Amino acid sequence: MLLYQSKSRPWRALELLAPLTPRDFANLTPDQRAELEPNFWESVCSEYDAENLCLELERRRDAGAHYSEEFWSFEAVWRRDEMNHYVGFRRLYALTFGRSEDDIEAEMRQRAADFSAFGEFLEDEFKLCLMLAYDELATTRSYATDVPLYQSLGHPALAAWIERVRADEAMHYYNALRVCQTRHHDRLPEAATLVRRVLALDLTDTDYRATFILDHKGPSYSPAILTAVADTLCNVIARQG
Ligand SMILES: [Fe+2]
Ligand SMILES: [Fe+2]
Repeated sequence: MLLYQSKSRPWRALELLAPLTPRDFANLTPDQRAELEPNFWESVCSEYDAENLCLELERRRDAGAHYSEEFWSFEAVWRRDEMNHYVGFRRLYALTFGRSEDDIEAEMRQRAADFSAFGEFLEDEFKLCLMLAYDELATTRSYATDVPLYQSLGHPALAAWIERVRADEAMHYYNALRVCQTRHHDRLPEAATLVRRVLALDLTDTDYRATFILDHKGPSYSPAILTAVADTLCNVIARQG
C-alpha cells in the first residue's frame, strides 16, 4: 500500500480556454503586449520542460536509479498537469502573438535540456522531492502575483485559467512535500540544510537549460521572494515533521 497517494484535480486547459479568440487580445495596449510576451513565453517553456525532467528521470531509472511507488504516483499526476499547463500557455501565446501552436511545439522539441547541475538531486528521491517542493511553492507564489494581470485582460476565462494553474502548482507543492514527509520521514532532519543548498543553487546566476527546475527569472523570483519560499518550506517541515 502506498504511504501517500498524490492528489490531483484533472481539468482540460483547452476546454477552459475555448471561448477565447484572437479578437479577445486584439485591443491590448503595447505595454500590455510587452508585459505578456515574456510572461506567456517563459511559462510555455518551463511548463513544457517538465516533460524533459520526466524523460531524464526515466532514463536514470532505466540505468538503475530507484524511485519509490509514492514518487511515481506523484510524477504521474504532476506530469499530466504540467503538460496541461503547457498546452494552455501555448494556446494563449498563439492567440495573442499570432504564432502557430505547431510552430511553438516544434521549437520546444528542439531545445536541449542539460541536467548536469542537478545530478545529485536527481538520483536521490528525497532531495529531488524537496527541490520540487521548493520549486512548486515558488511557482505557486509567482502565479498568484500574476492574478491581477490576467484579471485586467477582461475575459473571465483568463481569470479562471490563472486560478486553476495556481491551484495545481499548490497541489504539486503539497504532493512533493507529502512524499518527503511519508516515504522519507527518517531523513527530515536533513531537510533544512538541503533546502538552503537548493536556494543557493537557485540564487547562482546560471543560465536556465530547459530542465524545469529552478527556472526563476524576473521580478516575482527576487532573492527576497526565493528566500521566503525556502524559509516557508523549512518552517513547515520543522513544524509538521
Ligand atoms: Fe505548471
Ligand atoms: Fe507544477
